[in-house]
Amino acid sequence: MTDSQFPANFLWGGAIAANQAEGAHLAEGKGLTTVDMIPHGANRMPIKLGLVDKVALDDNEFYPSHDAIDFYHNYKDDIALLAEMGFKVFRLSIAWSRLYPNGDEEEPNQQGIDFYTKVFEECQKHGIEPLVTLCHFDVPMHLVEKYGSWRNRKLITFFERYARTCFNAFDGLVKYWLTFNEINILLHSPFSGAGLLFQPGENRDQVKYQAAHHELVASALVTRIAHEINPQNKVGCMLAGGNFYPYSCKPEDVFTAMEKDRENLFFIDVQSRGYYPSYAKKVFKDKGVELDIHDGDLDILKNTVDFVSFSYYASRCASAEMNSGNTSEANVVKSIKNPHLPASDWGWVIDPLGLRITMNTLYDRYQKPLFLVENGLGAMDEFDSEGQINDDYRINYLREHIKAMKQAIDDGVPLLGFTPWGCIDLVSASTGEMSKRYGFIHVDRNDKGHGTLARTRKKSFYWYQKVIASNGTDLD
Ligand code: BG6
Repeated sequence: MTDSQFPANFLWGGAIAANQAEGAHLAEGKGLTTVDMIPHGANRMPIKLGLVDKVALDDNEFYPSHDAIDFYHNYKDDIALLAEMGFKVFRLSIAWSRLYPNGDEEEPNQQGIDFYTKVFEECQKHGIEPLVTLCHFDVPMHLVEKYGSWRNRKLITFFERYARTCFNAFDGLVKYWLTFNEINILLHSPFSGAGLLFQPGENRDQVKYQAAHHELVASALVTRIAHEINPQNKVGCMLAGGNFYPYSCKPEDVFTAMEKDRENLFFIDVQSRGYYPSYAKKVFKDKGVELDIHDGDLDILKNTVDFVSFSYYASRCASAEMNSGNTSEANVVKSIKNPHLPASDWGWVIDPLGLRITMNTLYDRYQKPLFLVENGLGAMDEFDSEGQINDDYRINYLREHIKAMKQAIDDGVPLLGFTPWGCIDLVSASTGEMSKRYGFIHVDRNDKGHGTLARTRKKSFYWYQKVIASNGTDLD
């Protein structure tokens, strides 16, 4: 037992995303989204990274998002299981294309609104606060094909319409919102991050930063609208977090680590402070980027977020000599392998102290409450002879990260809540696998999409139930 430093109203819960859990990819009028076009297997990475000119569904491929874990038809039972663990908050996303199947319609699809109303009412019934991401790696495919996705300024209007619909339709049911999931992933995985495909020969940095500008304006605009519609609404940005450590104390390594951190924090700098950071000018010049900024954009950016949310799986490491031969990837962000840290079976380093460091950095920089909206260990789970999953490795990972959160709170960092990733097993975003599991609840489905979809409580389910009940005091 440790003394609890978590505030009494701390929001304990878990997180999922529509495209990795819902399935039912064309049900009740839903349109195709970017992630519906990303297959499992060898062709996954080139598409995710936007390295192909065009994407189309192929009968010979398997698309994990199409059925996922069928949360769409199981949401009641799934939410009841989360409630049984004592969840106070449930982070999930709305699939943009359930409300606007093509993305550019004038009026929303009522069936999509009805579905999410039922989901949020179910949360309310169990006293669970929804934390809703408006865009979690799923741009309607029609917007990619017709407009080039976020490279086109028109997306700001379409996103504004979609977000306004959500704030109005779910007013009274949802008050915590995130605009774009891991907004910085746009730079590292342009198609899955923001629906970007490139033409041969074009300056990709120009396309990416222009798209980033559009997302940043859209994010600030809808933050303002959320506050106008209901002043109780709280809107956050969302960073794929994890500080870069310098590989050595060589000044060149320290400088590279600083630059790498800035590359990711650039987005949060804008969303949290309300203006472009001073270093952006030189970055744009070096990359040959000339932003098309319209009158009024810089004023819109002044609508800053209420809190800073982030994912943390691993710290990162940089050296001046980084090259493709000596790097690994976690969350598609390239990093030097850190020789001081153990790693998961997927090569993601395990570094709880890195979470404390990241939290202190974010709070020092932004002075806004933080929300840790993703964390966890992707691991293979096996049933034992008694039909149990004894996932002590997951418990150990989470225990150490919860301790680090507590230490950061002791350091003076305000933290609103904790929603570990994939609280129920779901499809992996990077690999498309089901076997990379994060959940407290096992789902019977394999990498090829076979299985009964039966839900089973793992050992970590009962452990997390105790953690929540004791408000983080009992971590044994
Ligand atoms: C984050 C995403 O990148 O990390 C999630 O927001 C994702 O969508 C999670 O699933 C874990 O990554 P992966 O690749 O193990 O699923």
